[in-house]
Amino acid sequence: MDIIQVEGGFPLTGEVTVEGAKNSALKLMAATLMAPGVTTLTNVPNISDVHTMGTVLQCLGAVIEVADEHTLKIDTSCIDSWVTPYELVAKMRASTAVLGPLITRFGKAVVAMPGGCNIGARKIDMHLQGLAALGVQFEIDHGNIHASTPEGLHGAQVELEFASVGATENLLMGAVCAKGTTTIDNAAREPEIIDLANMLNDAGANIQGAGTPSITINGVDSLHAVKHKVVGDRIEAGTFVAIAGITGGPITVKDFDPEHLALVLRKYEGMGLSIVRGENEVTVSRPTTQPIQPTDIQTLPFPGFPTDMQAQTMTLLALANGDSFITENVFENRFMLAAELNRMGADIRIEGHHAIVHGVKGFSGAPVTSPDLRGGAALVMAGLVADGYTKIDGVHHIDRGYEHFVEKLASLGAHIQRVKAQPLNLDGLSPFA
Ligand code: UD1
Repeated sequence: MDIIQVEGGFPLTGEVTVEGAKNSALKLMAATLMAPGVTTLTNVPNISDVHTMGTVLQCLGAVIEVADEHTLKIDTSCIDSWVTPYELVAKMRASTAVLGPLITRFGKAVVAMPGGCNIGARKIDMHLQGLAALGVQFEIDHGNIHASTPEGLHGAQVELEFASVGATENLLMGAVCAKGTTTIDNAAREPEIIDLANMLNDAGANIQGAGTPSITINGVDSLHAVKHKVVGDRIEAGTFVAIAGITGGPITVKDFDPEHLALVLRKYEGMGLSIVRGENEVTVSRPTTQPIQPTDIQTLPFPGFPTDMQAQTMTLLALANGDSFITENVFENRFMLAAELNRMGADIRIEGHHAIVHGVKGFSGAPVTSPDLRGGAALVMAGLVADGYTKIDGVHHIDRGYEHFVEKLASLGAHIQRVKAQPLNLDGLSPFA
């Protein structure tokens, strides 16, 4: 097992380029199942979640050519299975994004029921209810969802209880070739939904309103394979913006649309960061002589404050000049970072879905464990300004969503390396030995 080792206190400056969005690439890959032929996806991040989705597609019969590090040619002409096994769904919940596409392609699907994960129960009831309105029948046995469409797929009016990203995407993909018109009300509005709709429309779909709370899909007969560039990753970008904020920068973060991070950037300006917006980049700095200002945030679906930026923001606020209040409204268990930051000297108290962050003067380097993907990146961020060395365990979480994270930080001047963990030798110390 690898660990990341950081020596804190070195300035970080320069330019960093973000990759294509993980949350978009995974759904675009799933969508290729609906367009027999070779879909070319460019700007695909080289991260472990993408590798897992590649395995899911291969398991279903797709042939994937890695044309270069960020270009996948996915041939779905010969897909001959509609069964997604538990091993893959358990490894990555987003594997459930193949449900809608398989139903569109075959009129049936078997997908393992996802369990919870370390940020919450993460149910998929809204995916199933929405697809049921389109004519899908479900049976759940032995941990698998069996979907069938005895009468075919038909358009329907669906109103989501909560603007769920995954439910909106599965419904969109279940409705593209359904007979008639589907409307999804209270749809998620994330930029990744727009990216998916854009690719599907290029492939022959008729989707209007993606990016608004009401999406209309007029069913078409079939889709064809296209070439598509994955939208820039606003969360990877936001992570480097937060890193510039905590270290002082200046750092220019390139290849994403600053509008996709509008609220985060405005909040960070209020916390004392200076942010210069360009067309596809931002330059971020903060005079390190001036403290970070405390603020309150609450996570909400887009265009609200993204839950995927909550951990990085908690890390900034842990060093603020006063008390901040964070409310997590999207996931019920996304504060596990707090205990790790407290090991580094932070003063954070959790009360249900609120965190009370009392700013401290600095972090003290310590061995810590990544609780999840964004929490792992946030611990590296804390290590960059901590006194002494920080060792971050659980690096596989970070690998799920950040490409070359250590190398990118090192190129900005961080004293950071990825090393093999040295197991502690406890031989002969067990009282049961
Ligand atoms: C996606 C993103 C994730 C991001 C999240 C919210 C991917 C691969 N992941 O996750 O990074 O943090 O959006 O922006 O794109 N819920 C239900 N029933 C459902 C569906 C959702 O109760 O049928 C609940 C979930 O448990 C969660 C909340 O709704 O508490 C939001 O979930 P959702 O928007 O669906 O997130 P994901 O699509 O899983």
